[in-house]
Amino acid sequence: MNKPSEIRKKFLQFFETKGHIIIPSAPLIPENDPTVLFTTAGMHPLVPFLLGQPHPAGKRLANVQKCIRTVDIEEVGDTIHNTFFEMLGNWSFGDYFKEKSINWSWEFLTTKKWLGLDPNRIAVSCFAGDEDAPKDEDAADIWRRIGIKDDKIAFLSKDDNWWGPAGQTGPCGPDTEIFYWIDEDNPAPKKFDPIDNRWVEIWNNVFMEYNKTKAGKYEPLTQKNVDTGLGFERLVMVLNQKRSIYETELFTPLNVILQKHTKKTDIKSERIILDHTRTAIFLLSEKLTPSNLEHGYVLRKVIRRAIRRMRNLEIKDYQDLFKKLTHELINGKNFDYPYIDYYPELKTNENFIVDELVKETVRFEKVLEKGIKEFNKSAEQIKQKIKDPNKQVLSGRLAFKLYDTYGFPIEITKELADEKNIKVDIKGYQKAYQQHQELSKQATEGKFKGGLADHSEITTIYHSLTHILHSVLRKTLGSHVEQKGSNITAERLRFDFSHPGKLTLAQIDEIQTQVNRIISRDLEIIKEKMALDQALAKGALGLFADKYGDKVTVYTIQNKQTGEIYSTEICGGPHIKDSQNIGSFKIIKEESSSAGIRRIKATVILNPKRSTSVRDWGSRN
Ligand code: GLY
Repeated sequence: MNKPSEIRKKFLQFFETKGHIIIPSAPLIPENDPTVLFTTAGMHPLVPFLLGQPHPAGKRLANVQKCIRTVDIEEVGDTIHNTFFEMLGNWSFGDYFKEKSINWSWEFLTTKKWLGLDPNRIAVSCFAGDEDAPKDEDAADIWRRIGIKDDKIAFLSKDDNWWGPAGQTGPCGPDTEIFYWIDEDNPAPKKFDPIDNRWVEIWNNVFMEYNKTKAGKYEPLTQKNVDTGLGFERLVMVLNQKRSIYETELFTPLNVILQKHTKKTDIKSERIILDHTRTAIFLLSEKLTPSNLEHGYVLRKVIRRAIRRMRNLEIKDYQDLFKKLTHELINGKNFDYPYIDYYPELKTNENFIVDELVKETVRFEKVLEKGIKEFNKSAEQIKQKIKDPNKQVLSGRLAFKLYDTYGFPIEITKELADEKNIKVDIKGYQKAYQQHQELSKQATEGKFKGGLADHSEITTIYHSLTHILHSVLRKTLGSHVEQKGSNITAERLRFDFSHPGKLTLAQIDEIQTQVNRIISRDLEIIKEKMALDQALAKGALGLFADKYGDKVTVYTIQNKQTGEIYSTEICGGPHIKDSQNIGSFKIIKEESSSAGIRRIKATVILNPKRSTSVRDWGSRN
């Protein structure tokens, strides 16, 4: 048995014997690199040194880097793809180049002292050459000298045998990839066929000698570098003769827990749950919170996809399973692989990880069933209306609605559609999404035009929204929240309130969701005059009460159908009278206003089909 912790140790030891300094893993969320969302390889944090800046630890480094890659998210569920993984890597900054790099990879993989893999099961690929760089005969010759036969060397194009840059620009170069034949029942074929998935790529040696410029040109770097990446999960799999990474000790303790929660078997769902939960735990350990933006959205996506898959396995208590998996990964006695020794942030932030998983689960649970119902209904209609299975397509508009209203990442909608053999109009979805973004942007920038000629209406809507926001803030953050100021223009509302600290992204998201939930309803706003005492007894917020004399006006915003009260405030108006589906409310800024006072700026994208009637236009009682 090749223990994961032993393999890890051996790799670092090997490169120490070759004069490398071991550096710690960088965070998953890059600190100073806006060109990428996540660290997808060990070389990311090293870009300045690949470009020529001297590294304080020298010219030879190695490490184990935690990585997130989501380009292959739809492949997760097969035997080898992950969204979170660890990468073993070694680097040369203008020091050794192809000869040493390739020979060391071979030595580490095949000698008995180190990993002792069977040389007959190894094949390689090299860069085939194109207008940017020549065919990599140097690398192939090194392999030939090692003893690799020509039949086991494939020359492939830039799509396969070129690495980088990590963002749009930066260091890059041809690479040579090392494949291992994993089929234990059959000997490795004489000829290497990269298409056969029993050849699994395990190690990539990149020869970074180019810099890709903004203009798309490949310029030679001042120094020739080496950047390698050896996928840890795959290596553990190969060394333990497993057919999938999920059968390795990196996953089996988590799988034992998962199996206790379900009686159903669905390997793909099981793998997605294990992979995505691990990814979520690691992202949360860096204090990221789920949101609808960039990093936070990826986190939301993996959590929601995992939940959807739990539903497929008829698991009811998503929260409980997340809690147990987190506990096992962080504290589990069954793990040979002590993640917390390598990544102490997991332990430090354990409570945060669990809390955020629970919160996101609560949010998604609220809409999941409704969203699936809506999807099923539409799928049924499509199937009834369109008989030709090739033409059964879910519209982009509906896919966007599932995203916008029910929080379904498009991948979930695609999976649901796949299960029913329906296609999704992804282009249409992207168009609807972009239109929405554009509208938000225009509104944010105050450029919104058309359909909103009457400023009285929008400012009145903002006034009523301010009341709803106020009460949602008190419900979400606590009753210490008091209005400290408000300002409304045709483009936005501004609301100042007492609160001791910055709002988290999760809080902002929750507030936004709650306001949106309320304004999507059928609302009526009741205006009553009463004595101040009476209003206060009714629980009306009356922050400027003394302004209004003995008799005050109280506005109550309530659900027309159920009578549920969302806000009661003493106020001079004006307000809307009733409304249905106002539109989409968005917080565009949260900042400090002064000590102990926060400021929110928010906007609304009005629904063209809303029905709103306005009371007291322009009059203030
Ligand atoms: N940077 C090399 C690799 O990720 O394969």
